[in-house]
Amino acid sequence: MAVLHGVNLDALDRRPAEHYGGLTFARLEIRIEAFARGLGLEASFFQTNHEGEFVEELHKTPDYADGIVLNPGAWTHYAWALRDALEVSGLPAVEVHLSDVRAREPFRRVSVFDGVSVEQVSGQGVEGYRVALERLKAAL
Ligand code: DQA
Repeated sequence: MAVLHGVNLDALDRRPAEHYGGLTFARLEIRIEAFARGLGLEASFFQTNHEGEFVEELHKTPDYADGIVLNPGAWTHYAWALRDALEVSGLPAVEVHLSDVRAREPFRRVSVFDGVSVEQVSGQGVEGYRVALERLKAAL
């Protein structure tokens, strides 16, 4: 599985703890790695703050993965090129958000991935990644 993180996720521990739990991004990846191992999956990780790099990574994913877990951060809500790039990948994808994007500002209720991802998991903190990996495994 490709586990792709977008803009500002690398600064997770400097973002509001009430939404993101206060953990470091390195810690988050360690937790996800453990979830993946527990499910018998191999995870490979990527993070960028540059939208074009995220697009290029999505294009490459079929070379090394059979599914995608992605948390693109704020791009989720407006970066339509990422929806198209996910379609280009042709891979099943589950979108995950640490915070409950449906219960925050109205702009966070929009997801450019609606209709192209298998589903959205949100508001479950780090556990949400385990759920996302399970859903992806079931979709394969
Ligand atoms: C986020 C939610 C987004 O709205 C926000 O812009 C983020 C993180 C989350 O994991 O809860 O950067 O994707």
